[in-house]
Amino acid sequence: MTGARETAARDLEGAGVLITGAAKGIGAATAAAFAARGAVVYPTDVDADRGRAAAAEYGAAERFKVLDVRDEEGWGRVVAEMEADGHPLQVMVNSAGAAIRASLADTPLDGFRRMVDLNLVGTFLGVRTAARHMVAGGAVVNISSLRGVVATAELGAYGASKFGVRALTRVAAIELAHKGIRVNDVCPGSIDTEITAVPDFDHVDVESYVRTIPMQRRGAPEEVAEVILFLAEPRSSYITGVDLLVDGGTGAGVTTPTKNNLDKNTEN
Ligand SMILES: NC(=O)c1ccc[n+]([C@@H]2O[C@H](COP(=O)([O-])OP(=O)(O)OC[C@H]3O[C@@H](n4cnc5c(N)ncnc54)[C@H](O)[C@@H]3O)[C@@H](O)[C@H]2O)c1
Repeated sequence: MTGARETAARDLEGAGVLITGAAKGIGAATAAAFAARGAVVYPTDVDADRGRAAAAEYGAAERFKVLDVRDEEGWGRVVAEMEADGHPLQVMVNSAGAAIRASLADTPLDGFRRMVDLNLVGTFLGVRTAARHMVAGGAVVNISSLRGVVATAELGAYGASKFGVRALTRVAAIELAHKGIRVNDVCPGSIDTEITAVPDFDHVDVESYVRTIPMQRRGAPEEVAEVILFLAEPRSSYITGVDLLVDGGTGAGVTTPTKNNLDKNTEN
């Protein structure tokens, strides 16, 4: 029981919550979900117009901050502002990210570096900020991906960055446990956001892809947000260093192809 009281996970009511990539998609849904639980949300993004508009919907427009997750000094500024406001960093959700899709042979060096810089270095800077400034009883939730668990053709750069996020999560969980800070990640499967609304993904056959998902549908950002909430709340107080897949069953295994099983899956 040593230290149990000092390190008890904190409730979200009034908690200072920093969320990156909060202008849209999973980050926006997560910010709204935390606000609904009474947390004091600091939404951040590079897209100020959309970020502020999204934040206005849950009453946090005045707390929106422009933060490029690759900007080392920017992190310090946001955390200092939270402390000055009397809402020190208790929860951090690292949702900022993007994807490129290409075979390794066709991946340009600057594209590979962009994935590592945004998805992995950006998350590293967040985790390091938490290690230095987060209050005891706090929680970090990183967003990896099912593609950071299951290697996927044409997602080499993205997948490498997301496998890396899982490594960071584990190391941080071990290093920060004694401070009462928990660090976990979620690994979404296919979630209905704009992340794939780029030309790289035009050739993906979405209908056929959805038929390979055991649940036969894409997920909603709100379904990921609920899991992120859980990992930040005292309900998950003994969980740290894990990946939680939110993927409709895709990562559970494979269906052996037969002449009719994929069609059968769509009958309902
Ligand atoms: N949508 C999916 O299917 C899916 C699946 C697995 C993992 N993810 C991960 O979830 C996270 C959120 O993705 P999403 O689907 O909501 O995407 P999205 O495109 O809807 O949102 C991403 C947000 O990140 C912001 N952003 C981009 N570059 C940034 C930077 N340098 N600094 C700060 N913010 C920046 C964008 O402006 C945008 O608001 C990403 O890390 C993504 O890799 C998404």
